[in-house]
Amino acid sequence: MPKRTENLGRSEFKFLLKAIVLEPCDVTCSDGSCYIGEFKYGVKHGLGCYHFRNGDRYDGEYFGDKIHGFHFSFVRSAIEAAKKHVHGAITTTFDPKAISASSKSPIFIVDLGCSTGPNTFIAIQHIIEAIQTQYQSHNLPTPEFQVFFNDQFSNDFNTLFQKLPPNRNYFASGVPGSFHGRLFPRQSLHLVHSSASLNWISKLPEEISDRDCGAWNKGRIHYACASREVVEAYEKQFYMEFDTFLNARAEEIVSNGIMALQIACAHEGIDVHKDLYPGKDFDLLGSCFMDMAKLGLVSEEKVDTFNVPIYFPHLKDLKRKLESNEDFIIEKMESLEAKIQLVPNVEMYVSHRRAALEALIEKHFGEGVVDELFGRYTNKVKEFPEMMDLQNLKLDGLFVLLKRRLHP
Ligand SMILES: C[S@@+](CC[C@H](N)C(=O)[O-])C[C@H]1O[C@@H](n2cnc3c(N)ncnc32)[C@H](O)[C@@H]1O
Repeated sequence: MPKRTENLGRSEFKFLLKAIVLEPCDVTCSDGSCYIGEFKYGVKHGLGCYHFRNGDRYDGEYFGDKIHGFHFSFVRSAIEAAKKHVHGAITTTFDPKAISASSKSPIFIVDLGCSTGPNTFIAIQHIIEAIQTQYQSHNLPTPEFQVFFNDQFSNDFNTLFQKLPPNRNYFASGVPGSFHGRLFPRQSLHLVHSSASLNWISKLPEEISDRDCGAWNKGRIHYACASREVVEAYEKQFYMEFDTFLNARAEEIVSNGIMALQIACAHEGIDVHKDLYPGKDFDLLGSCFMDMAKLGLVSEEKVDTFNVPIYFPHLKDLKRKLESNEDFIIEKMESLEAKIQLVPNVEMYVSHRRAALEALIEKHFGEGVVDELFGRYTNKVKEFPEMMDLQNLKLDGLFVLLKRRLHP
């Protein structure tokens, strides 16, 4: 692995690295900051870690020198924390003989809500390594792997395909469409994975945009900090879609096949009206929209009908839901001990938020709103820097391993 530690000014930084294409490298800049990670065409591109002069660090993904994608440190930390759970769970639960996959037929794996990488590649690699260990321990030849990467139609699959690990040991395909419906033929999947995706709901409850309804979410863009009726409408929608999700997977997964899910859950006992951290953040963003409405930059009606389709279930409610499911057995259910890293500065924090919400906002408001909105939001985050302290998150990453009961 090439390793280079040099004293570079920021402007020299790109130029000197021009010759390096997707190779890991260490670079120390003259201001004392340092980047260790992948480069392409002389810029930060791929996975990297930036160590700032003040001791902060950003671990994440770069695309064309910019931080890319919805990769909160929380999500990445949860994936790293899940590695041992996934490995342990697969080696105790995934039985090559019981799933009746012969060494000649491939193992079919899907990552639901994969985004554009790279977290999905890391998760898939962990899964494949664990399955290989299983086959070796049964003295069976290692099978071939077919991996499906699923996300919404709007996902940037081209970026995902461009970033596929070049030396991967699996065949890869993209499968667009909502995981709240059927995506695969009956009894065709051996292992289903999904991380940080099931918190998204496919459809917002209609009543929250209806001015004649008690659940009308006027002046807000999320259920946290909103009225009880709004919270209940989101909750109802989440569990309705979660049922649809489980029903679809029950059809698609083979008998004894497994499903590993990571879902962010609200801490027990917190009051979503005031304590749910992402809610406070959405409230801040919502207040920027309201300021823009007052200035006539967006219509108030548009703001009142815009809501972020994300729900964080309470752990005990989710557990109850899963326990009552007749198609799956819960093999494991554990909280992930994710080490949350600090977001080093306001710009990075805002760029994460923007990457996650930009498409949603443009779809509702049209083009030309996001720059103004996130400019205002940046100023507000500077006013309330406690927003960036992910230690206040009040979310638990829940790891659940489900096994498909025998099909009749
Ligand atoms: C927070 S990202 C998580 C990405 C990746 N799994 C990870 O752990 O970094 C959530 C992803 O789920 C996708 N998603 C949300 N709802 C979905 C649905 N109904 N069907 C398929 N993908 C969905 C989003 O498009 C987004 O890419």
